[in-house]
Amino acid sequence: MRIDKLLANMGYGSRKEVKKLLKDGAVKVDGMPVKDAKFHVNVAEEEVTVYGDVVEYKEFVYLMMNKPPGVISATEDDVHETVIDLLEEEDVIFEPFPVGRLDKDTEGFLLLTNDGQLAHQLLSPKKHVPKKYYAKVEGRVTEADAEAFKKGVILDDGYETKPGELTILHEGDISEIELVITEGKFHQVKRMFEAVGKKVIYLKRTEMGPLKLDEELELGQYRELTDEELELLKG
Ligand code: URA
Repeated sequence: MRIDKLLANMGYGSRKEVKKLLKDGAVKVDGMPVKDAKFHVNVAEEEVTVYGDVVEYKEFVYLMMNKPPGVISATEDDVHETVIDLLEEEDVIFEPFPVGRLDKDTEGFLLLTNDGQLAHQLLSPKKHVPKKYYAKVEGRVTEADAEAFKKGVILDDGYETKPGELTILHEGDISEIELVITEGKFHQVKRMFEAVGKKVIYLKRTEMGPLKLDEELELGQYRELTDEELELLKG
């Protein structure tokens, strides 16, 4: 990869600013100053430094966020704050995007990456990646609802859902439940409960595929996936 592209990708400024760094002799490859912006670096084998600091090159970034309510799961929005607005500049430079969507008022596990191939695999309907949600539901959620979800329910547009696994944590006027679904239709959890005459009043995604939301993450916080998590995810 060209040295100017690498440094620009890694957040060392625009191509122009990077050119200046090179001209100033700040950049070394395996200890040798490099001034030519077109110089090719083998990122796997050569060590690049800027003013003596090693440039840790990576192509992809994988972030687990505890999405807060009130922000949109999109890269851009004219009106509302997006999940990208919550990222540090050092992560934004990788141009990550959210893998799938959570509603504006939904909280919890959101994966952000610039790895299009992985995102595609996780979102592909053929892969049936399970997603687990915790919800508070207005109305008494019963075993009859669990049975209905197991068979699949008909949503307001006539779509019949794939089986969902409903666990009732608390049955009351406001019930607490966990639901695992393997698809991601628009407002799916809310509409599944509407199909059985109930209303979701709080929704949080707690798991996606093999990964669990890190409970240490406060709302709006995020961290990179660990190597183990990434391995699990890639299968
Ligand atoms: N189902 C919903 O209804 N909303 C979400 O944000 C995610 C799943």
